[in-house]
Amino acid sequence: MNIGIDKIGFYTPHLYVDMNQLAVARNVEPEKFTIGIGQEKMAIPPITQDSVTLAANAALDILDDRDKEQIDFVIFGTESGIDHSKSAGVYVHELLDLNPNARSIEVKQACYGATAAIQMAKGHIALNPESKVLVLGADIARYGLNTGGESTQGAGAVAMIISADPKVMILEEKSTYLTKDIMDFWRPVYSDRAFVDGKFSNEQYISFFQEVWKQYKEQTGRNLEDFEAICFHLPYTKMGLKALRTVLAETTEDVQERLTSNYKISTKYNRIVGNIYTGSLYLSFLSLLELKEDLQDGSRIGLFSYGSGAVGEFFTGILQNNYRDHLYVQQHNQLFEERKEVSVDEYEAIFGNTLPTDGSNIELDVTNDPAAICVSGITEHMRQYVNKRR
Ligand code: COA
Repeated sequence: MNIGIDKIGFYTPHLYVDMNQLAVARNVEPEKFTIGIGQEKMAIPPITQDSVTLAANAALDILDDRDKEQIDFVIFGTESGIDHSKSAGVYVHELLDLNPNARSIEVKQACYGATAAIQMAKGHIALNPESKVLVLGADIARYGLNTGGESTQGAGAVAMIISADPKVMILEEKSTYLTKDIMDFWRPVYSDRAFVDGKFSNEQYISFFQEVWKQYKEQTGRNLEDFEAICFHLPYTKMGLKALRTVLAETTEDVQERLTSNYKISTKYNRIVGNIYTGSLYLSFLSLLELKEDLQDGSRIGLFSYGSGAVGEFFTGILQNNYRDHLYVQQHNQLFEERKEVSVDEYEAIFGNTLPTDGSNIELDVTNDPAAICVSGITEHMRQYVNKRR
């Protein structure tokens, strides 16, 4: 049975800060951010967006009535969830009016969460070919003002329907994966900001990629020539390139050129959004699909997923006939076009304006947020949400 990605949607908040402006404010050369890190714009989530609303907004326009009926499993990958007990999947299930006869859960392993969700979804579809699974990867990447990781923040979500006979890409069976207990990035339960050993995380990312790629080659006999493009988890757009470059010598100049050029296209959306943690790999995949108009049906795409802590996986897919007809290019263009730039001062104010954690109630004004689904407040420790389309 062919199982894979049937639809793929995306959402990012309506505000961003220009990395050149951030560089000036932080007294670093703008080229460090735009070339060294490889980021142009960083999405800024207003107080009315959290991981639940980002995910629900990403899924809202890709689901038709049949999908809503057939989805019987919602798997939400996130590392910026809102509750230690109740899953973010249950909130999204309600906000999108999905069939009550569904399972809804949250999975976590840093930026690997959405990949874990996809692999679980594959297993579920293999046992239940008629069903569909809604996989969500949503996060707010938050390191703190004036920190080493600040230039690699961002916010956004990717939503995918996984099904049999998918319209966009089938996922091939073979994948290679690896777990090692390391402390390169983590967020203790008492902290709203991540801790990171930046240089170590870069090294581990590359080492995980090399190891799973080596195992993949040994187990399948395939080589770089077999791939039209390889998409990477992108905490910032230079990261995947560093990993890709370590294996390019294995192949011919033509293939090197193809993979490098397609890598560039696969980073364009991430360059103007920033890090969305577990959705980042899929945002990169979306960038390749939507922006490389001559990408052929039948192409094999490699995907490298990495979640600090750490778990890595290399897996692959084959683009389906007329896959382009099933993308949401126009909607995503519009989303980007309608975004509004904020100054560094405004970004800092938004960053500091967080929801109360002392048990007090709050009612939020959602009229300034163009998103259909927003956080509207907190009542008696319960987050309140609104779907304006209802
Ligand atoms: N023009 C062009 N490039 C410049 C530059 C300039 N004026 N100034 C610096 N750079 C380059 C550096 O040479 C470096 O490139 P390289 O990595 O290819 O050598 C890059 O910009 C970053 O500079 P660096 O001094 O290493 O940055 P940093 O100490 O501020 O840390 C991170 C960068 C990514 C480690 C940090 O942002 C971080 O910790 N991020 C969060 C963790 C993360 O994303 N990890 C990834 C794996 S999950």
